[in-house]
Amino acid sequence: MKKYIVLAALLAAACGGPVRKNVPAYLDPAKPVEERVEDALSRMSPEEKVAMLHAQSKFSSAGVPRLGIPEIWCTDGPHGIRPEVLWDEWDQAGWTNDSCTAFPALSCLAATWDREMASLFGRSIGEEARYREKDVLLGPGVNICRTPLNGRNFEYMGEDPYLAGAMVVPYVQGVQENGVAACVKHFAVNNQETRRTKTNSIVGDRALYEIYLPAFKAAVCEGGAWAIMGSYNLYNGQFNCHNKRLLCDILKGEWGFDGVVISDWGGCRDDDEAVTNGLDMEYGTWTNGLTGAPSDKYNRYHLADPYLQRLRSGAADEATLDDKARRVLRLIFRTGMNQERPFGSFNSPEHYAAARQIAAAGVVLLKNEDGVLPLQVPAGGKLVVVGENAVKKMIVGGGSSSLKTKYEINPLEALQEAFPEAEVVWERGYVGDTSTSYNRVDTGQDLSEARSPEQLVSDAVAAAEGVDAVIFIGGLNKSAHQDNEGTDRLGLGLPYGQPEVIAALSEVCPRLIVVNISGSPVAMPWADSVPAIVQGWYGGSESGRALVDVLSGAVNPSGRLPFTFPLALEDGPLKTERQYPGILPEGEKWWQEYYEEGIFVGYRWYDTHQIPVQFAFGHGLSYTTFEYGEAKVSRKSLSAGGSMTVTVPVTNTGARDGAEVVQLYIAPPSDWVAIPGSLEDPLSRPAKELKGFEKVYLKAGETREVTFTVTPQELSRFDADEHAWVADKGVYRLLAGASSADIRAEAQVEFR
Ligand code: GLC
Repeated sequence: MKKYIVLAALLAAACGGPVRKNVPAYLDPAKPVEERVEDALSRMSPEEKVAMLHAQSKFSSAGVPRLGIPEIWCTDGPHGIRPEVLWDEWDQAGWTNDSCTAFPALSCLAATWDREMASLFGRSIGEEARYREKDVLLGPGVNICRTPLNGRNFEYMGEDPYLAGAMVVPYVQGVQENGVAACVKHFAVNNQETRRTKTNSIVGDRALYEIYLPAFKAAVCEGGAWAIMGSYNLYNGQFNCHNKRLLCDILKGEWGFDGVVISDWGGCRDDDEAVTNGLDMEYGTWTNGLTGAPSDKYNRYHLADPYLQRLRSGAADEATLDDKARRVLRLIFRTGMNQERPFGSFNSPEHYAAARQIAAAGVVLLKNEDGVLPLQVPAGGKLVVVGENAVKKMIVGGGSSSLKTKYEINPLEALQEAFPEAEVVWERGYVGDTSTSYNRVDTGQDLSEARSPEQLVSDAVAAAEGVDAVIFIGGLNKSAHQDNEGTDRLGLGLPYGQPEVIAALSEVCPRLIVVNISGSPVAMPWADSVPAIVQGWYGGSESGRALVDVLSGAVNPSGRLPFTFPLALEDGPLKTERQYPGILPEGEKWWQEYYEEGIFVGYRWYDTHQIPVQFAFGHGLSYTTFEYGEAKVSRKSLSAGGSMTVTVPVTNTGARDGAEVVQLYIAPPSDWVAIPGSLEDPLSRPAKELKGFEKVYLKAGETREVTFTVTPQELSRFDADEHAWVADKGVYRLLAGASSADIRAEAQVEFR
């Protein structure tokens, strides 16, 4: 035997490699992760295991110094890498090397309806997190847009679980190929900011499994997410950071999740449940604003000294502790101790180009009559731009997704860049939010204004008269009761008197273009009086250029709405305070919110009840046109275990290249569709549901066939009594459309 060791040593020396001798398994990168986990676990004391389960600072938790196992460092957020903070503060630490690339908000990513964009986004932000030596990215968020008023809709991916699920998978995979964990949030049924830490979401199983879980399940079961963040609210009476049904039964049980459950910051509320109900890492307790307890009391965390006491007294078992520690070790071997992982990059030209490409692909052309767009401004001509959102920097603010970025190009700067030979004039039009800082990060702008609202409108109208083009750029912003974590909006309309400004401008400018920059739907009662409307988003560092790429025609718009724009809030499914924002019944400690609309969220509600909307889910125009041919099926019937395809030819019938998002909706057998008043019927079904989409880029005149696969799963509903997906027998309609309201081709399949 000795001679072989000598031979191996000689060979290794000859190859110039280090001679590895008696390296423990957990330190040997050649060993499988699970073997390294078990070896490390076997070497750790209970105290060392417990120390890994809770924060040691605002965004880090302990490793095992004695064994050379590193700490875990987390960072917000879904749109870019948060600036470094002080050890135990929310405020930035004032570093000078942590200004990041700000990518678009996830509502913009969802609006691209392009899995490739999600992959590019994940890879790029993962490279930035890796370069900043972060192990866990606290994002993406995939909570469903149940109400247009949710302050964090801008951070999420719309009203449909299939779209959110399809887009989250490539994002997660892109992040994790950098050896950084995606921490998908906020799990689950966390669909508002109002009283988010004290509201109990009461949801039936059918809505839970058909609407609120699918995107998380896709992230875990298809995306392979290494971390999940529990949400602040309660579900069916238990806090979600230690909710037995969500974390133990569904996430780790039904889905087989092998990663870590991280609490939201301050979301852990109970010593015993923290131990027994599936929480693995506790962050933010005490110093999160939930309680005013002095900071640096990390030993008082629920999974700190109180847990050790339970272990020592026998009130808590070692097996549960080992399961938690095993998961944290697995996270460490996938990230910090993964010697294969790349080194990332930060603020690279590639990342800014990616941010611009994604942001432009998400811009949605909602209306364009008389060819008002693309924008034409002759050399020497005059373009008047009205609105605070033409200049206001939007990356700072809005809560934990706020960033310190290298730069942010606003729309006005981009318009001046794109039309250098024209005179580009800006008028404020209205005053919205003049604040410019968040967590000690400041945009450096001065948004103060001395003029009265009347004067502002009068000045804007005077400037707009008789010029070549006028663009109003308004919408929401990241201040309280706008697109902002911790508060919901107070209404669907545009704030700050914007409708009046739009009305006044449209009087003097028949070819007025309106750009709405927001992360949520807004009411547009003025939509009929303007010929061109564009939905911009919070587009990140390159937001202005991305928007102008579309307005100028450099990029053909291809975005589609990830949520419905209703005509009015009261048209929606949330009719009572019980439904939203919840009530506080006599004797109850927590607010109670009843998801009584069940599965009828977004277009599922409007379509089924034939309620007209301003702009439909999936809607978006192009500078070219597309025609759909006949939908053809590979077979006319389907039975359990079978599959079939439906193919639709799509032609670019216009004069320029463009992209079409071909959407597949499935309509159940007609006698199953819900009728008004039958919401309670557990077997009622929406008029149609999104079950596939493909974004196809077509040259002018080109035709491409788009094929979707349909199995019984796509035909199924979730039966709460059977706790199973059930495909009912009958004839289903397969609808290929350019939006949920614009069906272009149809076929049928009978499930037998
Ligand atoms: C916040 C947010 C969460 C964020 C965390 C850390 O309260 O809910 O999304 O990642 O705390 O900032």
